[in-house]
Amino acid sequence: MADVRIILVGFGTVGKGFLNVVIEKKSFLKEIYGLNLHINAVFKSDGGFISNTNTGLDIQSLLSIKDYKEHPQWVKDVKAYDKIPEMEADIVVELTPTNIGDGEPGLGHIRQALKSGKDVVTANKGPLVVAFQELITLAEENKRFLHYEGAVGGAIPVFSLARENLKSSKIISIEGILNGTTNFILSRMVSEKIPFEIALKEAQELGYAERDPSYDIDGIDAAGKLLILTNTILRRPEERFVKFDEIKIESIRNITQEAVELAEENNLVIKHVASAKEGKLEVGPKLLPKTSPLAVSSTLNSITFKSDLAGEITIIGEGAGGRETASAVLTDIITIFKKRIKTKNNN
Ligand code: HSE
Repeated sequence: MADVRIILVGFGTVGKGFLNVVIEKKSFLKEIYGLNLHINAVFKSDGGFISNTNTGLDIQSLLSIKDYKEHPQWVKDVKAYDKIPEMEADIVVELTPTNIGDGEPGLGHIRQALKSGKDVVTANKGPLVVAFQELITLAEENKRFLHYEGAVGGAIPVFSLARENLKSSKIISIEGILNGTTNFILSRMVSEKIPFEIALKEAQELGYAERDPSYDIDGIDAAGKLLILTNTILRRPEERFVKFDEIKIESIRNITQEAVELAEENNLVIKHVASAKEGKLEVGPKLLPKTSPLAVSSTLNSITFKSDLAGEITIIGEGAGGRETASAVLTDIITIFKKRIKTKNNN
């Protein structure tokens, strides 16, 4: 049985979703993978819960307490940035809100983790958008893993599919619906005939939208994901990394109810599509035939990889939500630990 000591940073929808999944999968992880997960600390922006035992925090008590400040392990004003290098842990799970401006606070947390010899699993897009090359290099230099399956497509294993299952093929282009919130809004405008603002409010209440929902509506979130996909999957070793300002982005703010209905009458749908094709990176509203595999509804995301040998492959799944994103986070943890155990056995 391997003990996996985890520091969790971020106690929002995905952070809590992850903790719930850790409880739910406790025996499964032990029986199938021989892993015993301990959450040694959970940080929020105004402090953290820090375990004083080797067995980690009692997660159930964190999730059920009404006022977290009353929790016996709560330490006010302590910062993840300062504590990450000091604490003993195997993996830092970084799930603070996305900030595409400077990547903080997630960027600082990931740097601290990698520099202090911890592997990182994140679903936070900001640090990867702002400092993709730096973070990949930092992970390599420190011989650490940096996994981010949950950052793009929520529960959908986009990176595993491209890297593992399409190993024999060269991926030529990527096209997809990468934002659950805008897809939810556009779908509700068609199915329920409700206005944009109401549909957005619903998406916020359901926990799909970013803290700043203009990230979703204005295509910033989808563009960030497109950048991460392009740099991870399309970029060849000899090519440079793409930057955010190279992506042409168009919002869905001006899509009217009339436009949505007119498309519907013509067997078409308006979708917020992100594409990386022939060196061009774009995010914007597009008319798709209703029968297109990309034309999924609600919070679903869809991604089509076009490759030289396998042709077109489209993968569809839940692109947002705490539990769904947590599934990707947990898979990354299992993957890292399996790799670590294999390396240890080979030495
Ligand atoms: N706000 C994002 C979305 C969350 O709606 O897709 C998942 O990245």
